[in-house]
Order: sequence, then C-alpha cells, then structure tokens
Amino acid sequence: MIALTVNGKTHTLDVLPVKRLADVLRDDLKLTGTKIGCNAGDCGACTVRIAGGQACACITPVGQCGGVEIVTIEGLAHDPLGAKLQAAFHTCGAAQCGICTPGMLMAAHDLLSRRPHPTQREIEDALAGVLCRCTGYQKIIEAVQFCAAGYAVPAVEALGHIGERLPKVDGIAKLNGSERFGADGIPDNARWLRVIRSPHHRAAIAFGDLIAFTKAHSIDLILTAAHVPRNGFGIYPTIKDQPVFAVDEVKFRGEAVCALVGRRDRIEAIDETAIPITWTHLPPLFGIADSERAQTLVHAAQSGNVLIDGGVNKSAPNAGEIPAAQISLRVQSTFVEHAYIEPEAGWAQRIASENGDRIEIHVSTQTPYMDRDEVASVMQLASDRIRIVPTACGGGFGGKLDMAVHPYLAVAAWHLPDRPVACVYTRPESMASTTKRHPCDITLAMSANAQGKLLTCISHAKFDTGAYASWGPTVATRVPIHATGPYAVPVVKTRGTAFYTHCHPSGAFRGFGVPQAAIAHEAAMDGMADQLKIDRLEFRYRNAIRVGDTTATGQLLTASAGLDQCLAALRPRWLAWHAEVALFNAANPHLRRGVGIGCMWYGIGNTSLSNPSTMRITLDAQGITLYSGAVDIGQGSNTILTQIAADVLEIPAAQIRRVTGDTDLTHDAGKTSASRQTFVSGKAVELAALDLRAKLRARFQLTESSHVRISLLPNLASIFVSANGATREIPLAAGEIIEGIGTFDPPTTPQDANGQGSPYASYAFAAQIALVEVDLDLGTTKVLRVAAAHDVGRAINPTQVEGQIHGGILQGLGLALMEAYVPGKTENLHDYLIPTIGDAPQMEVLLIEDRDPLGPGGAKGVGEPGLIATAPAILGAIEHATGVRMLQVPVLPHVLRAALLKQP
Ligand code: FES
Repeated sequence: MIALTVNGKTHTLDVLPVKRLADVLRDDLKLTGTKIGCNAGDCGACTVRIAGGQACACITPVGQCGGVEIVTIEGLAHDPLGAKLQAAFHTCGAAQCGICTPGMLMAAHDLLSRRPHPTQREIEDALAGVLCRCTGYQKIIEAVQFCAAGYAVPAVEALGHIGERLPKVDGIAKLNGSERFGADGIPDNARWLRVIRSPHHRAAIAFGDLIAFTKAHSIDLILTAAHVPRNGFGIYPTIKDQPVFAVDEVKFRGEAVCALVGRRDRIEAIDETAIPITWTHLPPLFGIADSERAQTLVHAAQSGNVLIDGGVNKSAPNAGEIPAAQISLRVQSTFVEHAYIEPEAGWAQRIASENGDRIEIHVSTQTPYMDRDEVASVMQLASDRIRIVPTACGGGFGGKLDMAVHPYLAVAAWHLPDRPVACVYTRPESMASTTKRHPCDITLAMSANAQGKLLTCISHAKFDTGAYASWGPTVATRVPIHATGPYAVPVVKTRGTAFYTHCHPSGAFRGFGVPQAAIAHEAAMDGMADQLKIDRLEFRYRNAIRVGDTTATGQLLTASAGLDQCLAALRPRWLAWHAEVALFNAANPHLRRGVGIGCMWYGIGNTSLSNPSTMRITLDAQGITLYSGAVDIGQGSNTILTQIAADVLEIPAAQIRRVTGDTDLTHDAGKTSASRQTFVSGKAVELAALDLRAKLRARFQLTESSHVRISLLPNLASIFVSANGATREIPLAAGEIIEGIGTFDPPTTPQDANGQGSPYASYAFAAQIALVEVDLDLGTTKVLRVAAAHDVGRAINPTQVEGQIHGGILQGLGLALMEAYVPGKTENLHDYLIPTIGDAPQMEVLLIEDRDPLGPGGAKGVGEPGLIATAPAILGAIEHATGVRMLQVPVLPHVLRAALLKQP
C-alpha cells in the first residue's frame, strides 16, 4: 500500500511500487490531465511537480513518491501562481492543440516558484524538457514572461469579431487538464486491443493455431483479415490498396498482421514472439532509385512501381528567348515524422439499433466524415451506421488524415458487442505504423533573361510513396502545379511521379510535397539572382506573381496575390540583417552568420476537386448554436469559425455555443487539411449566418432594409428589429428553432491533359527571411531569427494566425536541419529529434492582408504556408554564411562539416 499525496489529497493505493506514476495518476486516480506522449521521458507531456521540482511522471516509479507532495495540472488552479499562469497562456495563445500544455504549465510553475523573474534563457532552460509540436514555443515564452512580469492578466472584453485577438473559445479545458484527448475518456469496462505488427520490412506470413493461443492466454479474440468484411482501405475511392491486416505478405515494417483483444493486463503481458506467426523474410525495395529500376513489384498490378505520374505543360509565344542565367539542380529529402505529441488513440462500441446495429468510434482525428465513410467501407455497412465522435486532437499536421486505430476498433467492437474496445498506440508503434512526409528526388532547371525575368521552369519531382497509396496522388499532383514557386514563369514543364517501395506509406504532412518543391525552386532563384548579380530579394520581387498574371496551369489571378507586398515588408529587415551579418563575420573567423530568403505559395483546399463544407447555425430559446463538422486540431478553427459567425450575427462570440465534429450531429465540413477550414468552412459559416439573418427576416416579415439585432437573454432568445429608427422586441415562440445553413464549395476546374485549369480558388503567399549562425568547426547551424511576411487575406484572429506561422517555422526548421526518420532506427523521440524550445529562433510575423473576395471577411488559409518558406530561407542563409549550397535535407552537422571541408 502506498500513500500518495496528490493536489493536497492523500490516497492509499494498492499498486506495485514499480508502476509508473503517470499510469497511477491516469488509471487509478482518473487524473487524465497528465498526458503520456512517449512513456520514455522524452516529450515531457507528463511533467508534474514532485516535492517541488518538475519530473516526468512516465519514468517515475510510484514507489518513489510516497510521503511527498505531488501537484498535477488539476491542482494548478488552486494556487494563485498556477491560476495566473493558466490565464497568461490563455491570453497569449500559448496552447494550440493543448496536449503539451499541462506539462508546459507544470514546468513553468516550477520555474516561477523558484525564480519569480527569470530571464528568457532561464525560461528556455526550465521548459526545455517539454516538447511542443504546434506553437513554435514563442507564445509560451511570452506567456511565462507576461506572468513573471507581475502584470495582472487583463480580462478580455472583446466581442470576438473578425480581426480581434479573442483567446481560444475552447481554450480553458486545455489549461486545466479537463480536455479529453483520444486516450482520456476510455470507459472502465473497455476491452483493450493491441495490434501485432511486422518486425520485417517485407516478409511472407503464415499463422499457426491462433484459437489455441487465444485460449491459452485467456484473451477474447485474435483478429485477422478473416474478421474484416472488406480488407482494404485508402484515401481515394478507387485505390483501397492498404489492408487492415496483411494477408500472405507484409510490405513494410510496422504493418498490422493481427490484433489481440482482451483484458488490458493480459494482452499487454503477451510476448509477441510467442504468437504463432511464421515470418519468411523477403528482399525489400528501398528508395526511389531502387523502386524505379527494380524487377520486383511492390504491387503486382502497378507496373514500374508507379502509383501516379502526371504534370503541367505551359508554353508562351516568346518561348525561345536566350537566357542570361540558367541553373539545374537536384534536391533530395528523407522521411519526416509528424511527431504530434498525442499518439493515436480511441475507443469504440457496437450500439444496438432498430435499423441494424451501429458502431460508434471516439477517436482523435482530422477528418471525421472521411473516417466514417472509410470505416463503413471496411465494415461493409451503410455510412449512417457508423458514428465518429472526435475527441480532442493532440496534433495532426496531416498524420491523422489516414485511419489508424479506427478499423481495428470497429472490427473488434463488432465482434464484442457487449462492451467497448479501446486502443492507444505506443510512441514507437505510432512512429512505425503511420504515414510520413514523402522523401523526394527533385530535378529542376530554371532560366531568366538579362532583365532578371524568369523564362522557363522544367522539373521532375519523384516521391517515395511507401507501400500503399495514402495521399501519394495528392502530393504528386499538387507539386507540379507549385513547382515554379510563386513566380510568373512563361514556359513550364513540370512533372510528379510517386513510386511504391517497402516502407511505411507516405501521406499528408503540412504542405503535401510543396515544402520539398520549395527547397528546389528557391535554390534556383538564389542561383540565378547570383548569376545576374541581382539582390536575391529583389530578384524575387521582380518575378513575384501578381494579379493579372497566369499561373503554371494557366489560371489568371484576379485578386489577392500579395507576395510582392510580403517582400516589400521584409526588405528593410533584409538590408539591416545583411549589414549586421557583415560586421559580425568580419570579427569571427570560426562562426559565420548568413541571411537567406524563401518564398512560397499554396493553393487552398483540394486540387481540382469538389471541396465543400456545410455549416448550420440555429437560434432557439436557449440561444445560438454553431453545428460544425470541422475538427479543431489545435489550429484554432473552433475560435475562427465562432468569430466569423459572431461578426455576421453581430453578437459576442461568447454567446455562441458549439457542437463540433460529431458525424451524427453536424454536416460534413470536409477534412481539416490543405489549409482549408478558415477559407472553406469559414465561408460556409458566413453563409449560414447570413442565411439565419434572412430566415429571421422572413419569419417576422421584415424588409431587406430592417436591421435585425439578436439579443440573447437567459432562456429567452429575443430578436430586436430596428427599422426607420424604431426598435421592437420579438420573442421566439416556445420550442421554435430558426436555422441558417451555409454551403461553400470553392470554384475550381479540372486540369486538362496538359495540367491546364484552375485547380484552386485561392492561393496564400509568403516570404520569410532567416538569419543563421554556422559553426565552421562543428558544422552546426543555429537559426537566430526569422521574419515571416504572410499574405493571409485577412487575419480573422491575429493571435491564432501568428501561432500557426510560429509553429510552421519550427517544423520548417526541423525539416531543414534535424529531422530524418529512418525505419527501424528512429522510432522514438530520443532518436528522432524535433526542435526544442532551445532551437526556436526569435520570430517576427508580418501580416499582409490582401483580401480575397471569396474568403470569409477576405481570409485565406495559413496552416501550411507557415512551414513552406522556412527551409529554403535557412538553406539560403547557410550558403550566404559559408558559400556552400546544401541541397539535401536535413543538413545534419556532420554533413555540413563534410561539405565545408570540400570547399577549396
Ligand atoms: Fe504543444 Fe500542441 S500545443 S504540442
């Protein structure tokens, strides 16, 4: 028996002393505010205070905690400093998805308890043990500074309309530990499911007597492909090439072959090498070059191992002008892991229903409606017999657009109708089995004339799509459109090809291949500018695509193309930083500083495909409710959509309630990806709110000129109507519901055989400059500063927009300098490194608001743009500092050091 004092209360527990404190807190005491991101002391999400200090609860045996005071996130609000920290995080926008936030707050609480007025360096040191994948850390540091400065956190009195810095409408739960992520709401009576995965990259498989094994270990079930009605899933309707459970052959290390279902302690205790599976190793294909050349086919029906191949051809009447500058180069990248701090998790149950049993799945996801339809397909049930209830999502970045635990839970729940079934991936399992950023091999040639105007762009981007299609077709079709960069180029010939290999599937990851393409076109822009002796920023300014220009696909830009404005905003910093760097380098022989620039553009939403979102807003005696099928994965869409609705309805955002994500209760808003929720779902909200206004006019027979004002009194919604200077009140009838519906599908056109068409209705633009310091002896690169100018159309909420850009910059920094996922080698967060708070540069965001007439309030999207320009800016800065152009990412220190040594 162990006496444990947690948040001032003593519990006597009958637990093994070696049990992890995190498990005791979550499972025995139901304090699920303490999160588990890695169970290895790497991510810090489980940080609590033990005897005054901060510690990772996941690697602390509970036996060490008897007789000492433990404080968790649930206890923080009882302390004045804790409450103030929570308020500061809320005001500053320091929590995005919120999965790291309890750990961050506990670490910050530890610091401020010891050092009430810390320096920035002390803050970084104190919080260094907690990883955040969303925020870029800057707003977290600001929140701690804000709190430490002794200022009272101001009450927010804003209406929360468009343009205001409204704190997250769903933010409080992220700060007090009450938010329920995928692993947090699992019913006590749930059976647990453990997926058994291939330890081989490729192998033939055969099962022994699984029924005997099931009995011998007293578990409920071992699921295999035989239990799955349709053993294939995938993103595209015509490509269901990934089996739920492999049959006969596994095609990547980490592929599922079967799943154990039973009591948690029993299935966790099983030694998986004891399961009767015979593995016969087969030679795998790795890498694009091998896949292209090999006789072996990953899928028998895919000749040449090609998943998809296509491109864009655009010619111009003056083609053939003699170039004054031309460059050819090749860019290569590796797999990159999403590394969201919340591993995949959820639970499901079979629900009896008059029209046939249903399956209800509670899961962390970016795309509930796609999940619903995909589970329905696997289960061979009608879609309305599947209900997806999204939990809070602890980061996605594209990785939670594919199914993970979903089909396993659905199949298990169907076979165990009497109780729920839960599954929580371990960190290594999450990393080994889920999608990654596509490795690329891009060749690109560009040319420009003597006046510094671009003439041609020819490129071929090859991608490693892994064993199954996932989002490979999206990447391979999006990249040829974006391969020119955000520039006006008369002659374009670009191509994208995705190849199958025996690696885990490559999928969606913030940018869909455009970040890799940007490394290529920005290196070419630097090279041509240097050849022409034109300043690198000026060269981009001359070529920036503007309103009136046509894109690579022949699409005429008619509005909101603000790259030139971004570059103009950055120019003073660009010049000042160059002057500063020159002075520094003159005095430092071993440390060299450099300044680089990267530009990007990004088509918002699906490529040349219908892309609708439908929103519903109701008014009844209880008030206004926004029914939104758009899930907020931390990027702030709950807040943004609420602000848009509040703005149109002219009521405070605080008066809008939300029902979000549940496929039984909302309309399909499409997936949270491709930077589309603000632009597409935001427009749908705007239309729904306008529709509600129109319905109110019709209901009360008001003229168009009457100004309708909604006043919400407790339990009584009244409408105030102003017309001709007079105002009258009209209460709603009992039980009356008035609803507005809005649907928006961005106007796009299909591309023809030459890739010509209008694949996107809106484009975001950005330019970023980076200042780096390279240690010539060590090959290390430290990014000191990034200034990011983004044309977002309209910043619905500047705090949220800045947070997206900060987070994107850190992920771009990781792509450039440190992140390399190696199957079988880097399957945890101590081998796979992501940027820590100590890696974060000082970031400045300049918001350019070149309004898009299609977007809600003029807004576009910003989720992916934050990342895309960063790596090119860093690589350009390294070249400026050292003279070495790195075209392979990540630029690890030993690689850069080797390149430096080769310099003459
Ligand atoms: Fe830090 Fe999402 S807010 S990981």
